[in-house]
Amino acid sequence: MNRKNNKQNPYDPEIFDSDVRKRVGNFSRNKALRSLSKKWFIESFGRGYVYNFYWFGIPIVQTPQDMVAMQELIYSVKPDLIIETGIARGGSLIFYASLLKLLGGKRKVIGIDININRENVVNTSKIRKHKFSKYITMLEGSSTDPNIINRVKKIAKNYKKIFVCLDSAHSHGHVLKELQAYSDLVSRGSYIVIFDTVAEYLPRKIIGERPWGKGNSPATAVKSFLSNNKNFVVDSWIENKILITSNPGGFLKRIR
Ligand SMILES: C[S@@+](CC[C@H](N)C(=O)[O-])C[C@H]1O[C@@H](n2cnc3c(N)ncnc32)[C@H](O)[C@@H]1O
Repeated sequence: MNRKNNKQNPYDPEIFDSDVRKRVGNFSRNKALRSLSKKWFIESFGRGYVYNFYWFGIPIVQTPQDMVAMQELIYSVKPDLIIETGIARGGSLIFYASLLKLLGGKRKVIGIDININRENVVNTSKIRKHKFSKYITMLEGSSTDPNIINRVKKIAKNYKKIFVCLDSAHSHGHVLKELQAYSDLVSRGSYIVIFDTVAEYLPRKIIGERPWGKGNSPATAVKSFLSNNKNFVVDSWIENKILITSNPGGFLKRIR
């Protein structure tokens, strides 16, 4: 079938992909839809929406939209190592481990949390017994502790394509230190995703007692980091695609 005839066929993969590109491009220019999405996110976040979900039985603190975005990015990069700071109940660790298993071969996710042995915070025993546990290494300590950073770097030496997710404490200073500590490990063409940049836009009544918010958030850390580091750019394509995200401006791609 030639290209001309295919134009009529909505199932032609080239036409489908080109329609996706056009639609996402239109979303990026659609101020009304973007503002509605932001408003919807803020309203739903205030009602605990991000705590509604599980991956293979373990709670994950992410929106389904962000999970689909992570799946698309991880599938495109095919990392052999994912480093995640901030485990909480472990759903995101299990999510990444399941994707690595599906990719096949020797792959690993390292999860770092300051509270691993407090069962009320991290589901340590459930994670250790989980069917995807052989893909997971957990490290206890602060993600900015030099000992933890050195342990991660030592493990990372055995891997070639590295992807990083920062989802621990969300203050400007902490996230900036994490960016400085882990960004060098990210492979060219891969990503460092900074979660909860949305803290910059959430009203104080929603953020509550949390020690971050406007002016002191992952978003301000990303801004400082990018002003001195030209190896990374914001991937707004993925954000325009999902529209609803906890991580606006937080999907950074390493370009050099
Ligand atoms: C937002 S939750 C992580 C959510 C998880 N990634 C998910 O998607 O389900 C933040 C986690 O970061 C941990 N944390 C807080 N401060 C930390 C630090 N300095 N270093 C490492 N982990 C930290 C907390 O104990 C908590 O489990």
